[in-house]
Amino acid sequence: MQNTFAMPLVVHDRFLGVIQMANKIGRGGFTSEDLDLLKILSGQIAFVIQNANLFQNLQSAYINTLGALTSAIDAKDSYTHGHSERVTELSVQLGREVALNTEDLENLRIAGLLHDIGKIGIPEGILNKPGRLTDEEFDIIKSHPELGVRILKKVDFLHPIIPFIQHHHERFDGRGYPTGLSGEKIPLCARIITVADTYDAMTSDRPYRKALDQQTALEEVLRCKGTQFDPQIAEAFVKMMNRQTSGMIP
Ligand SMILES: [Fe+2]
Repeated sequence: MQNTFAMPLVVHDRFLGVIQMANKIGRGGFTSEDLDLLKILSGQIAFVIQNANLFQNLQSAYINTLGALTSAIDAKDSYTHGHSERVTELSVQLGREVALNTEDLENLRIAGLLHDIGKIGIPEGILNKPGRLTDEEFDIIKSHPELGVRILKKVDFLHPIIPFIQHHHERFDGRGYPTGLSGEKIPLCARIITVADTYDAMTSDRPYRKALDQQTALEEVLRCKGTQFDPQIAEAFVKMMNRQTSGMIP
């Protein structure tokens, strides 16, 4: 190194890092003007970093709060305990399997956690009812994606994930709800959550039936490809789960 200047990045007595300039092009090395410039730059950079950190903290606070609400829904029903976390984990793994980019994977993680947030507005008696639901009760359950949209609309930075929440009960053949979208008109992340959500529901005990074993549930996923599920997503999911079960390194 020929010559160098370093300056701490500090905001309100908080040390954030160091900025360094080195090897000035041309003769003579750094001057006092360079030092002044670095002082101004380091002050501005420190504020930008501080703001980005604050923004990130605010975002995680929102997500944690909404995640706590989702856990509260899961906790209302002992049969679906931990459902949202498992759906999130499976969705993100499946997103990686189909090569989603980092931004989509992050959105998928948040959407997985919050996919059933609208169930906050569904009476507990209907959510936990053992036995078959009446048509009216099923209509009430079916309102939870739109209720979720109404909750999340109020939080600006969650707007990109709203379509994934809204459409996680659509079917590939267009016979799902709430809008009856079909095929690739259903957002990709919603098609991913649908597979993970249904698989987790099938492999969990419910008041009216015992959990299916993994292999039977995976056969069911394949049986429903092209009707309930996007065929490519369903196949990628089954391939991924079989690989994990056989202990191969992904
Ligand atoms: Fe749902």
